Amino acid sequence: MNEEFTLGVPIDRNLALELVRVTEGGALAAARFMGRNQKEQADGAAVDAMRKSLQYVDMEGIVVIGEGEKDKAPMLYIGEQVGNGNEPHVDVAVDPIDGTRLVAQGLPGGLSTVALAERGSMFHTHIPYMEKIIVGPRARDVIDITDSVEVNLARIARAEGRDVQDLTVVVLDRPRHEELLGKIRSTGARVKLILDGDVAAGIMAAMEHRTGIDVLMGIGGAPEAVLAAAAVKCIGGGMQSKLWIREEDEPIAAGEGVNDSKVYTIDDLCAGENIFYAATGITDGELLDGVRFWGGGARTHSVVMRSYSGTVRYIEAEHSLKKLQQRIGIFSSKGEPLEQRA
Ligand code: FBP
Repeated sequence: MNEEFTLGVPIDRNLALELVRVTEGGALAAARFMGRNQKEQADGAAVDAMRKSLQYVDMEGIVVIGEGEKDKAPMLYIGEQVGNGNEPHVDVAVDPIDGTRLVAQGLPGGLSTVALAERGSMFHTHIPYMEKIIVGPRARDVIDITDSVEVNLARIARAEGRDVQDLTVVVLDRPRHEELLGKIRSTGARVKLILDGDVAAGIMAAMEHRTGIDVLMGIGGAPEAVLAAAAVKCIGGGMQSKLWIREEDEPIAAGEGVNDSKVYTIDDLCAGENIFYAATGITDGELLDGVRFWGGGARTHSVVMRSYSGTVRYIEAEHSLKKLQQRIGIFSSKGEPLEQRA
């Protein structure tokens, strides 16, 4: 954290709606590339559209979670200033596509996402991965990432008033999770494997009442941990993380003075009290519908949250593609501006 931030002073609630325009733009641009096996083009289009939308948002934002360092990422790089320069001063976390592979292959669950909170309140590390556990509001105070999987699941089940066998645990389908999966399965809990997209999965675990998923466990991206923490905090769920330091990450860890024994609470990941979170579906998923196009128009489905009020809103929007083209330049899948095709 690099600056003091004030707790308890609400940031203008209109920011929530401004923010959803940003993820709508990212999703509309990326959705053009659904199933076209063009990961980089999809990502580039989403980054470009989000950046253009961000310039209209009433804030002086600094990207703390973005597309990487300035020399490698021309846009939405860490440290880039976004927004129209007005108050408030905020940290911005963006993931133009969470689930790039899902979008490129036309698989469910790709979304575009952004979070903001008071300046200096979001965690940043160059270590790429974190171990995570995420639960909903009823189990938020019983999780302890330093305890065994079995103990955590038993406690979560008790807090939710049911048997461990009734729990569903979502885990990224990765070879590194073989041992974790064995432990979860040994308790009798149900498992839902996902190919990608642990931000959406984490949100679903925190929304136990809507999604039928109770827990997220396992190792995923560190930037995604911060984005998930912002959303989970708005929902009132619980989350803990630890850095997962591979051999090749050891020099980075030494440079940052971090190790893999520290437990990062949800407040360590996102200390803000004025958090805004938005996501828009790119491909159809369990949390959000994907973008639908028709002649000259498109429909998006988004979720927007605000921690101060604890409100979670779902927003379905219909867009005129021509007007979007004028405002933020959404391109067709062939790369031509839509106005040339009209
Ligand atoms: P990208 O869309 O940025 O590729 O991220 C997808 C994702 O599945 C994240 O949701 C997750 O945190 C991370 O990748 C896991 O990383 P890896 O694919 O290297 O295991």
